[in-house]
Amino acid sequence: MKGIILAGGLGTRLFPLTKITNKHLLPVYDRPMIYYPIETLVNSGIDDIMIVTGGKKSGDFLSLLGNGSDFGLKHLNYTYQVGEGGIADALGLCEHWAGKDPICVILGDNLIERNIKKAVGDFKAQGKGAKIMLKEVHDPERFGVAHLDGGKVSSIVEKPKDPQSNLAVIGIYMYDNRVFDVIKTLEPSDRGELEITDVNNWFIKDESMTYEVLDGWWTDAGTFESLHRSAGLVANGGANKTD
Ligand code: DAU
Repeated sequence: MKGIILAGGLGTRLFPLTKITNKHLLPVYDRPMIYYPIETLVNSGIDDIMIVTGGKKSGDFLSLLGNGSDFGLKHLNYTYQVGEGGIADALGLCEHWAGKDPICVILGDNLIERNIKKAVGDFKAQGKGAKIMLKEVHDPERFGVAHLDGGKVSSIVEKPKDPQSNLAVIGIYMYDNRVFDVIKTLEPSDRGELEITDVNNWFIKDESMTYEVLDGWWTDAGTFESLHRSAGLVANGGANKTD
């Protein structure tokens, strides 16, 4: 399985911190933000990794990460997203690289306490379709929110005003290679982006979507409040535990 980290976008919610750098290069306690999703993939046994970045400071990713030796990697792949067309737009850029392989996608501003080894193993065994990871949160209106029905995800609503559950869809997704054909059928949402939630709803309709509830804490780091909280969570016990 190949791993993809999405680290494009303009990071406008963190302005002016992101005025002269990419959000994923900002510090979260003792490491740049991008270190965390790389560790998450490496800990789950994925060592063939593509980083999608963008903006004026994209060259800084090369200076920082090189070929990934800090993570025990021999090589890292990079690609460039022009503009801020959305998460699914960024993912679509990886089609040529992913080929026929299944992929594990992680958003560059998502941090977890533990690891996704079991979910990755389960998805390999599943063989086709998609898998999402869910986590109970107190502020579901900030996220994609999953509705469950009969042990399955029946739909996902992106940032609902009136959430029907408190189960956020976290930014870790696994797909078979049909995902790239699905992305080609998407239309931009009201916020002008190709939405990963539309991709996930396609796999739900296809009846090939599974889910797991994440163990341990999860946070994004894309707002001042969540960036601050992330640093505290890491400082008080660390992230990406392997046990
Ligand atoms: O954090 C989990 C949430 O992430 C999910 O629950 C939502 O369903 C999903 O839409 C997403 O919501 P956000 O609105 O918080 O995503 P955001 O625009 O902050 O983008 C998250 C990451 O995706 C960002 O750190 C880099 C990457 N990205 C985003 C955009 C818009 C790109 O690589 N390119 C882009 O154009």
